[in-house]
Amino acid sequence: MLLDGKQLSAKILKSVKRKLAGKKGKVGLAVILVGNHSASVAYVRQKKLAAEDVGFAFREVRLPISVSETRLLREIEKLNHDKKIHGFIVQLPLPKKISTQKILTAICPAKDVDGFHPLNFGRGFLQLPALLPATPAGILKLLDFYKILLRGKNCVVVGHSNIVGKPLAILLLNRDATVSVCHEFTKDLKYFTKSADIVISAAGVPKLIRANMLKKNCVVIDCGCTKINGKIVGDVDFDSVKKIARAITPVPGGVGPMTVATLIENTFCATENFKF
Ligand code: GUN
Repeated sequence: MLLDGKQLSAKILKSVKRKLAGKKGKVGLAVILVGNHSASVAYVRQKKLAAEDVGFAFREVRLPISVSETRLLREIEKLNHDKKIHGFIVQLPLPKKISTQKILTAICPAKDVDGFHPLNFGRGFLQLPALLPATPAGILKLLDFYKILLRGKNCVVVGHSNIVGKPLAILLLNRDATVSVCHEFTKDLKYFTKSADIVISAAGVPKLIRANMLKKNCVVIDCGCTKINGKIVGDVDFDSVKKIARAITPVPGGVGPMTVATLIENTFCATENFKF
């Protein structure tokens, strides 16, 4: 079974568009993009297309790679107070000289539609109302849509980033899965993946997950997104793994569109009297 994120994301966007009807152009989403990292530029373009398609007003704040932390904090403060902007994100990664945590913590939690502010992170972990990080929340939506149950399942998350691996592990735990988190320092990845019912890879390493590392009839979610010779590839060796997995996401067309759709849904939530 192919877990079609493109199709589900289109459904989600259509539903937001319908709910937005009377407020077309009145909901504002902004993205701060520092520099011109090619993957970030492409992600921001997809977010813009989706935002405009559902009827949001989209604003891109483009800053040079040389921008100072102080200037970036000033731009965040402006968006925090801008009544036309209901949600905004700072596209990552940021240049090394800037403290990502300091930047993310400066975003007003009620406008933090990426769910990266410590308050949203913590509230999400505790299952209190919160804006949840888009990729992990999008993956759960995809699993739910295809009726892949999580309670009691052995889930292996590969990658422990703050954007995907860490929050995803907690969201899965909150759904009563048994969760292992593997990462670049894990000694024997296969030892973990071989007994997993669900493997979710967010390592950014092409062909990291191969058929011989998996149990028959497992579910495989690929968050990888690496450009090789102009082509986007995931972490999973799709051609071999599809023969043994019960369900698998394609790259592109799996997790990527779910991230965008969840960001749009979060932005709609941020306009709807979101209460902390
Ligand atoms: N870079 C890669 N994924 C993401 C994401 O979901 N949000 C932001 N802000 N930056 C990213």
